[in-house]
Amino acid sequence: MTEQSLDAIWALLLAARDQRGRPGDQGRTFGLRLSADGQPELRTADDAQAALIWRGDAFEVGPGLPPDAVDFVELYLPVLAAQPEQPVVVGHLGQSIDAQIATRSGDSCYVTGPENLTHLHRMRALCDAVVVGAGTVAADNPRLTTRLVAGTNPVRVVMDTDRRLTGDQRLFSDGEAETLLVCCRDRVSQEEHAPNLLAAPRNGAGLDLQAVFAALRRRGLHALFIEGGGVTVSRWMKAGLLDRLQIATAPVMIGAGRPGLALPASETMRACRRPPFKLFKMGEDVLWDFDLRGEAPDHKESAPPRQAPVRLQ
Ligand SMILES: NC(=O)c1ccc[n+]([C@@H]2O[C@H](COP(=O)([O-])OP(=O)(O)OC[C@H]3O[C@@H](n4cnc5c(N)ncnc54)[C@H](OP(=O)(O)O)[C@@H]3O)[C@@H](O)[C@H]2O)c1
Repeated sequence: MTEQSLDAIWALLLAARDQRGRPGDQGRTFGLRLSADGQPELRTADDAQAALIWRGDAFEVGPGLPPDAVDFVELYLPVLAAQPEQPVVVGHLGQSIDAQIATRSGDSCYVTGPENLTHLHRMRALCDAVVVGAGTVAADNPRLTTRLVAGTNPVRVVMDTDRRLTGDQRLFSDGEAETLLVCCRDRVSQEEHAPNLLAAPRNGAGLDLQAVFAALRRRGLHALFIEGGGVTVSRWMKAGLLDRLQIATAPVMIGAGRPGLALPASETMRACRRPPFKLFKMGEDVLWDFDLRGEAPDHKESAPPRQAPVRLQ
């Protein structure tokens, strides 16, 4: 894809984001196509030039989508299916070949390359909220905006069980997007009525994520991007709340550092999960996009078919 056509396809995906589910919209169908000058246009689902077609609960590729854009678009279609009745939660980690997401001191700039960074900004632009752990906010002082791509900033959600963060990190005051602090309800005083504070019950070492998820949905946040770090993505995964898991692997060796995914042990290889996946090449990195809902009911019996790498422009 040329840069110009990539811009047009990205505009199409942003238009799809704006059109996707509103309450009571399930069952609606429509098509989106690109005009001669590359602008997205709303049409009916049977439009011969439709590039994306909404069939009530998901987008599919239409006849009008240029063939060289199909792989790129398919990476982002799952998150565009999010709607009030059908939330979508995607986790992402950028890790070394030895499965670390940062050095021991917490340096993670940068594990993966610029193409993966642009992908992160695209995911933020397509999601309602980006969720990170307190460890990431403390280590990186991140902005969590979409500054590398067109699109609006998501709501920023910070998981900080015991309110260990000092509050002087820039996302709490830069005004670039709303920031919600999620903490345990025993850390909130009776008199405190901050609109950006979300109090949740405790669950073991962290928070009751089912309660947090429900509270975020009540605020209209149906497409969630869980961007790190390892503790946070692992907790959402263990709670069974991730629909997709994206792991970008970079050709770098970090050694003993901050670990990525940490899951309960399996005794045998037969018992290990092997969800279906698709591979995307991003510069020097390889992104594994796992469909965690696409596993066979008895995942121990069936391995998914292997797929050839797909080149992402
Ligand atoms: N390469 C990447 O993709 C990537 C992405 C993001 C960050 N990073 C790097 O990773 C490091 C931070 O990652 P990390 O795994 O150490 O920490 P983290 O996931 O950012 O944050 C972990 C802490 O946040 C709080 N937290 C997270 N999930 C929670 C939950 N469900 N409920 C309640 N509290 C929750 C916990 O605080 P409590 O202990 O108080 O419960 C936990 O210790 C940094 O060095 C950062 O630079 C890398």
